[in-house]
Amino acid sequence: MPADRPPPEGPSAPEDRSMLLDSARRTTEVEPILTVHPEPGVAKPNPILTMDGLRRSFGGLTAVDVDHLEIERGIVTALIGPNGAGKTTLFNLLTGFDRADHGRWEFNGQMVTSPSPDRLARRGMVRTFQLTKSLAKLSVLQNMLLGAPNQMGERLWAAPFRHLWRNQERTNTERADELLEQFNLARMRDELAGTLSGGQRKLLEVARALMSDPALVMLDEPMAGVNPALAQSLLGHITQLALSGVSVVYIEHDMDVVSGISDWVVVLAQGRVIAEGGPWKVIHDESVIDAYLGRRRAGTEA
Ligand SMILES: Nc1ncnc2c1ncn2[C@@H]1O[C@H](COP(=O)(O)OP(=O)(O)OP(=O)(O)O)[C@@H](O)[C@H]1O
Ligand SMILES: [Mg+2]
Repeated sequence: MPADRPPPEGPSAPEDRSMLLDSARRTTEVEPILTVHPEPGVAKPNPILTMDGLRRSFGGLTAVDVDHLEIERGIVTALIGPNGAGKTTLFNLLTGFDRADHGRWEFNGQMVTSPSPDRLARRGMVRTFQLTKSLAKLSVLQNMLLGAPNQMGERLWAAPFRHLWRNQERTNTERADELLEQFNLARMRDELAGTLSGGQRKLLEVARALMSDPALVMLDEPMAGVNPALAQSLLGHITQLALSGVSVVYIEHDMDVVSGISDWVVVLAQGRVIAEGGPWKVIHDESVIDAYLGRRRAGTEA
């Protein structure tokens, strides 16, 4: 893992890191991003998400002010920045949990015209929350089933056709069991979600997000409050997602994690993208150190 690795040497470090990953993925997915010039708002070879002029203010405070940003398909992108930089607000806007004052964005080649979390999830964009939102009084399995797309039993017209939605329910349950197994939660399947540890609830959220077979998952601080053993398994899942072709954007404060699993890093400060590029380059960028790492370090040294 990153902490054990020697410090990076020069611009070849990102390539070295990606060699640790699957070589096929390196060629088809990661290599193109390595040729992209690291500057805010730069165009990407194959973006899954593109946003323009995205703004959100709360009273006099501009929380998000993104001129242009593209998220590359099939790779792991980290979104970093100091507390209050607007990272969660940006996720909220993009996933339909909040309304932008201005701006437009395109997901998977199509303009998002009326963002709602459900509609976007059906189109393949799902997110998890900084504070987990599992329903404590439902079982782990029931929480998983809430993440399933197009649940026919919920639709009025389908209600009389029990056999149709029974089949779908069976398929959804099978998928849920598969994911619970993968995420090491199978033995908790019938327990109330409220009995899970904080870390297990984070795992459950990620697993639930995958119920809809998304094209893009957006994880808001998935590792926060997760014990080291579970965090390790979560990191493995994130890497694995990208290996299986899912695009991942995640918010993270731990720079070891960021440099360890990200193919690309976007830095937000006061709502704006102030830097983006490969992890080593960004983490050693003066403006990033000033805006973020410096402040953080100053905070810890004080
Ligand atoms: N609903 C809201 N009403 C008023 N202000 C808000 C609201 N949501 C966010 N803000 C403000 O917008 C700014 C950006 O907040 P946001 O939660 O997006 O930051 P963040 O980058 O996710 O921070 P953190 O790393 O602490 O999670 C902050 O100043 C915050 O106080
Ligand atoms: Mg946040």
